[in-house]
Amino acid sequence: MAGSQLRNGRMQSFIGFVPTHPDHISAFFELAPLSLSDLVYDLGSGDGRLVFAALDYGAGKAVGVELDPECVRKARRKARSRGLDDRAAFVQADVVDVDLADASVVFCYLSPQACTALKPKLESELRIGARVVMESFPVPGWKIAGIAVRGYPDYYEVNKFYLYVMPVPDNEGTSRDGKVKSRQKTNGL
Ligand SMILES: C[S@@+](CC[C@H](N)C(=O)[O-])C[C@H]1O[C@@H](n2cnc3c(N)ncnc32)[C@H](O)[C@@H]1O
Repeated sequence: MAGSQLRNGRMQSFIGFVPTHPDHISAFFELAPLSLSDLVYDLGSGDGRLVFAALDYGAGKAVGVELDPECVRKARRKARSRGLDDRAAFVQADVVDVDLADASVVFCYLSPQACTALKPKLESELRIGARVVMESFPVPGWKIAGIAVRGYPDYYEVNKFYLYVMPVPDNEGTSRDGKVKSRQKTNGL
């Protein structure tokens, strides 16, 4: 399913499962190096590959948010079989409904429509210093703090990854207030 669908004001699937190329996953961690104190969210986590990679790259905990129940089931099975139940959680939900106040890093590979729709949510929920990495689609109007590029062998296209640090100045350099919200557990970790 391509593109977001608005029904009764609620967002449904922005895009189907298109996995990040295995050779491109390192771009997230090049832009946002992780440590044990990090809690990473992947918005639209598919088979969980970015969640597991985040733990491999040093995050303390990681949460995948995914609409597709079959993807969630598979990712949860994988977490259990790898003994990562206490560090990896998969929430079956629409990304717009999940509170991101406790995230220190957010990964997102969805669609241009999703970037636009999530922009006010990220601005209001993420705390100061939180990092956001968008794959392929930048957030319109946000000042980019870093870019990583990966190539597709045999193609002329490149895949770009965009880093933002909260509060993100807009393209004119105007700073917005970051918000530090009280922590509310919604992720089961
Ligand atoms: C392009 S794939 C990326 C998967 C994974 N993050 C990766 O990089 O391999 C996008 C995923 O987001 C899920 N998705 C799309 N819209 C969503 C929404 N509104 N809420 C939660 N998940 C969504 C899709 O089912 C799909 O698995």
